[in-house]
Amino acid sequence: MLSFYVHIPYCIKRCGYCDFNTYTPNELQDGASLEIVSNDYIDAVLLELDAAPTDQVPTIFFGGGTPSLLPAKDLGRVVAAIKARNGLTTDCEITLEANPDSVTDEKLQGYLAAGFNRISFGMQSAKPHVLAVLDRTHNPVNVKRAVDMARAAGFKSISVDLIYGTPGESLEDWRATVTEALSLDIDHISAYALIVETGTKLAAQIKRGDLSMPNDDLMADMYLLVDQMCNEAGLDWYELSNWAKPGHECVHNIAYWKSANWWGLGPGAHSHIDKKRFWNVKHPTAYKQKLFAQQSPIVDSELLTDEQLHDEAIMLAIRMRTGLALDLLSDAAQTRILQYQNSGHLNLIDKHLQLTAQGRLIADRLVQEALG
Ligand SMILES: C[S@@+](CC[C@H](N)C(=O)[O-])C[C@H]1O[C@@H](n2cnc3c(N)ncnc32)[C@H](O)[C@@H]1O
Ligand code: SF4
Repeated sequence: MLSFYVHIPYCIKRCGYCDFNTYTPNELQDGASLEIVSNDYIDAVLLELDAAPTDQVPTIFFGGGTPSLLPAKDLGRVVAAIKARNGLTTDCEITLEANPDSVTDEKLQGYLAAGFNRISFGMQSAKPHVLAVLDRTHNPVNVKRAVDMARAAGFKSISVDLIYGTPGESLEDWRATVTEALSLDIDHISAYALIVETGTKLAAQIKRGDLSMPNDDLMADMYLLVDQMCNEAGLDWYELSNWAKPGHECVHNIAYWKSANWWGLGPGAHSHIDKKRFWNVKHPTAYKQKLFAQQSPIVDSELLTDEQLHDEAIMLAIRMRTGLALDLLSDAAQTRILQYQNSGHLNLIDKHLQLTAQGRLIADRLVQEALG
């Protein structure tokens, strides 16, 4: 089996907190439109696809950037090409990351016809003052509009991304955001703590003292609140930052967390095949140039040692509800980590360590205990 990630490196505007490998059309070519900078992008992606293995495909995830900026006929060419050369499993999950502002009924119908069955909207917050600090362009009203349109069009699985811990966001603001998200017709929530990435506008604002990050106690309260509210609404946690109704867990992300094989198509995309990792040249223009010159876009690779694979399996498994198999740990690590049962940070279920909500707050520390 082989999962595919397809990177779409375009956004209309860069959000102040985001350091993803994405570009506005103007950054790529002075004064150019999205149509101009992206017109031959899919041709390059299809050339890269020729180098991938031909195993059957259980999941495809179009991420970005903002994949929903591209028309369904463009993204559909990639889905069709993967289907023709690899074959898709009957229940293949095909996800589109979307900005609530950039979808229309007609576009959504097109994505469904192209094979997409899961959509994830970047909602982030329901509070205009939080969205303003995040430097988001979308109007909060559009999230409900987009979710309802996606459901009416026929999407079987709908998710929203949220961010907590934005400067100036109170616990009550966050409660209002989660309440609003849970009032939508959705099946899945991802909630990420805001990370201040070096080099972003947000990092500069914090450095200047214009904004300040919330303290760790508030962040912890925000995490516990979203966990509790999701549980009450029938969305169970299945990974530290992800909650879903039964049967709506993101199969693609689970493949990453289980270290399955995946191929990342597009600039800066990473791939993982057996014990090998490799990644592409970062800039979209360099990526296209390489492929149109019949060269590989891969810039570097690493072969993971058995020890690295073992440590990574521990780090990933501890993040998941299915938990970490106790017998993966050394005797000393088992003794150390089992003490956290007494403090209410984890439970031992069927010889697997499963973190409680309190345990998830200190997941990094527990990973250190498990590795040591
Ligand atoms: C590629 S974006 C999703 C699609 C679309 N570009 C959008 O933002 O609406 C992936 C998600 O990453 C999260 N993200 C990006 N930068 C982050 C940061 N610095 N801290 C926390 N979450 C971040 C956001 O929640 C965002 O929705
Ligand atoms: S958060 Fe999404 S819309 Fe904003 S810059 Fe990053 S990828 Fe683009």
